[in-house]
Amino acid sequence: MSQPHLRTVVVLAAGEGKRMKSALPKVLHPLLGRTLVGHVLTAAAPLGADRTVVVVGHGADQVRAHLAEIAPQATPVLQAEQLGTGHAVRIALDAAPDATGTVVVINGDVPLLRPETVAALVEAHEGVGAAATVLAAEVPDPTGLGRIVRDADGRLEQIVEERDATPAQRALREINAGIYAFDATRLRDALGKLSTDNDQGEEYLTDVFGLLVSAGEPVAVHVAADHVETLGCNDRVELAALRRLLRDRVNEAWMRTGVSLLDPDTTWIDVTVALDRDAVVDQNTQLRGGTVVGTGAVVGPDVTLIDTVVGPGATVLRSHAVGAEVGPGATVGPYAYLRPDARLAEKAKVGTFVEVKNSEVGAGAKVPHLSYVGDATIGAKANIGAATIFVNYDGVNKHRTTVGEAAFIGCDTSLIAPVEVGAGAYVAAGSAVTQDVPPGALGVTRAPQRNIDGWVARKRAGTASAEAAERARRGGEGAWAAPVGASEGEAIHGDAEAVSPASGAGDTATE
Ligand code: UD1
Ligand code: MG
Repeated sequence: MSQPHLRTVVVLAAGEGKRMKSALPKVLHPLLGRTLVGHVLTAAAPLGADRTVVVVGHGADQVRAHLAEIAPQATPVLQAEQLGTGHAVRIALDAAPDATGTVVVINGDVPLLRPETVAALVEAHEGVGAAATVLAAEVPDPTGLGRIVRDADGRLEQIVEERDATPAQRALREINAGIYAFDATRLRDALGKLSTDNDQGEEYLTDVFGLLVSAGEPVAVHVAADHVETLGCNDRVELAALRRLLRDRVNEAWMRTGVSLLDPDTTWIDVTVALDRDAVVDQNTQLRGGTVVGTGAVVGPDVTLIDTVVGPGATVLRSHAVGAEVGPGATVGPYAYLRPDARLAEKAKVGTFVEVKNSEVGAGAKVPHLSYVGDATIGAKANIGAATIFVNYDGVNKHRTTVGEAAFIGCDTSLIAPVEVGAGAYVAAGSAVTQDVPPGALGVTRAPQRNIDGWVARKRAGTASAEAAERARRGGEGAWAAPVGASEGEAIHGDAEAVSPASGAGDTATE
């Protein structure tokens, strides 16, 4: 004989959620890192149920696939036709014929429910040996919900749906949250007696309470401390409201653990994210999935991190990252895009308008501006000049590039993979590198420059350029000379940040 099951959890998730107006089943809509049903299963997890049954119906294949991912231990049970919540639980129990002890039933669309509240409900229920206990809440607006009807002594008489309620019952503000604990045997017995004699012609789970009361069985009401936990989700306006409430709860919890959120109203942290003490999150920031932010790191403003690990003391400013790793003390942005497997070592820098994918940027290495780094390994302390492109794709295959330690890549360089630039090597600006550059060598692939004197006067006569050239010519050498003390090369750049190295072949990089 199989072991008796002492605790069973049943999640009701077969409904369509018509008012969501969505191709996605309601319970699969996401809310800060989990689906609605994912939140409910998480709230029930600490009960340590022997068995979890999820009743699926609308979009059953999608819901089953999702459950296989997030809760493989749960058993999906099909309710082909949605004949009511009572019918749904009946089907669930048919799939768990050996269930004894406590059956916890939770509507699939109450994502703010806390594990502590479910545990308190079950404890209260088991503590008094009730046949059934309902989680209730006093709410400001009970519209559309089932009402808790009590007798003169305050004992539960029945739960009545709004559409079946008398005006006096409708005026009650104590509602059924759709979360219950039952004694399995007495639940099974009562479910067999449900009628469909109501406005919707459905089998109502809530009628089990009236039946048990009539049979003289002890039933109980457990009132939730915070009615917000019992809020359901019926349309996208409610979903957005729930998201804000959950955001506030999550943000408050992080601030209480020592994380600074500079603008909690514009900070959206998935429930699956981890933040270390003294991390700072600036405004307009979303931290999603498995993102982790280390101590002393500063993230934001205007940052989205998805499944990204940010090391202690790192900085990420106005950037987007997916599946990336930012090492301790590294800096990212403004306006960087880190794609999967971008891995920045300690104190590396990825600057403005730089995209990095499937690449390691070594300790202290810099990619400060306007570059694409794909399928590359960049050694420690290497400097990658502005507008360097790691040309990784030949139209069919991807290839890797390696840049050695302390190598120096001049601006506007294409490194055409597969290729390797050795440790300490230099590449001259404007090069298209197709062959390896040995350690310590200078690679140059530029065509020599030629100046065609008087070309503008001949070919662009009458333009502003021609006039300016003419003025410069008449003004003599002074107008076109370098500032006193500057070398010829520097004068051409005229930009303090873009100063070239002393080497004649250089004028390669920016800092
Ligand atoms: C239900 C309660 C109501 C309570 C409210 C709380 C009943 C009769 N009424 O009403 O007292 O205040 O929840 O939110 O139970 N479902 C199935 N199969 C079905 C019907 C529903 O799996 O045949 C699932 C739905 O997917 C949903 C849950 O059961 O997750 C509740 O169903 P819903 O139709 O939303 O019930 P309410 O009218 O909200
Ligand atoms: Mg509902």
